[in-house]
Amino acid sequence: MNLHGVKFAGTGSYVPERVLTNHDLERMVDTSDEWIRTRTGILERRIAADDQPTSALAHAAAAAALAAAGRDAAEIELIVVATLTPDHPFPNTACYVQQKLGAHKAACFSLEAACSGFLYGLQAAAALIQTGIYRNALVIGAEKLSSLVDWTDRNTCVLFGDGAGAVVLERTDANHNALLASNLGADGNYSELLYVPAGGSALPASHATLDQRLNCIKMNGREVFKLAVGAMVGAANEVMAQTGIPIAEVRWLVPHQANDRIIQAVGKRLGIPEERVFVNLDKYGNTSAATIPIALDEIVRGGAVEHGENLLLVAFGGGLTWGAVLIRW
Ligand code: ACO
Repeated sequence: MNLHGVKFAGTGSYVPERVLTNHDLERMVDTSDEWIRTRTGILERRIAADDQPTSALAHAAAAAALAAAGRDAAEIELIVVATLTPDHPFPNTACYVQQKLGAHKAACFSLEAACSGFLYGLQAAAALIQTGIYRNALVIGAEKLSSLVDWTDRNTCVLFGDGAGAVVLERTDANHNALLASNLGADGNYSELLYVPAGGSALPASHATLDQRLNCIKMNGREVFKLAVGAMVGAANEVMAQTGIPIAEVRWLVPHQANDRIIQAVGKRLGIPEERVFVNLDKYGNTSAATIPIALDEIVRGGAVEHGENLLLVAFGGGLTWGAVLIRW
């Protein structure tokens, strides 16, 4: 039971200026534009400057979302940053965003659910608004994955990019609730299919871990690929069943942008035609927690969604974690 509804008051996104193309990568590792394009769908990605931590990307996206919502930062009561690339182990990255925005009233936390992080953050913030704890919230997905990538490993370095997306959520009447249903899941049995082995409390950073590049992303891409499609389809079917809304009434499937073949397989299994599956990973690669809010912002600013239309957000990532959220715009 929701005491209140939650609505989307504004969206924003930011990607760094520097573009790294597939041809640039050809000069760095043994790969080819053709391999990357056909196996992933990625053409280029953005790379943050040395002096741009994740909070700087998050701040730019959040400022754009606040402007779109017509809200002042000082009105914001909660900031949630989903990221696996925090500025520092602590304090949490949302505190840096708060400071940069001047959102002095906001409570701040960050959460880490890898590529599913934005959906986890969206559900958490929405619940805190629906139950009356806060009147509004900024939910941000932001990543500087270039800081975790092993630039000598062709299996991973071609996949990732930097960027941020944000939404402003506000309390509204329960009858106008925009977050129709959500289904989040995880399976820790698969934690080492996709992870950063060192730099945490299990294996603190040392000269040895740095020499072995254990502070970088390690991934078993083939296994992740197999699990990704089933998990996203399962979560999506679950939220559709919860609401009883037919899949034909989904205006856009907004999937996590990791690999075009995964995205197309999910669309096909859900019965959503290609022209209603949103794809922008050709421009940005996989920006983990940032892919869905960046996509949402591009849909909204491009005028591709109208009031009352349904958007099905689905994600999958390290953990393993996954989720689907059905929203009514
Ligand atoms: N350039 C050229 N060849 C390459 C490259 C590259 N960049 N990368 C791998 N290869 C080679 C491999 O070495 C392998 O060669 P081999 O057969 O001689 O061993 C061959 O290409 C095929 O490798 P596969 O792993 O079978 O390639 P696949 O078709 O599975 O594509 C990919 C690999 C793109 C990584 C895919 O498996 C994938 O997208 N997996 C999912 C990743 C994902 O979704 N991650 C999401 C979560 S991210 C997060 O949470 C942070």
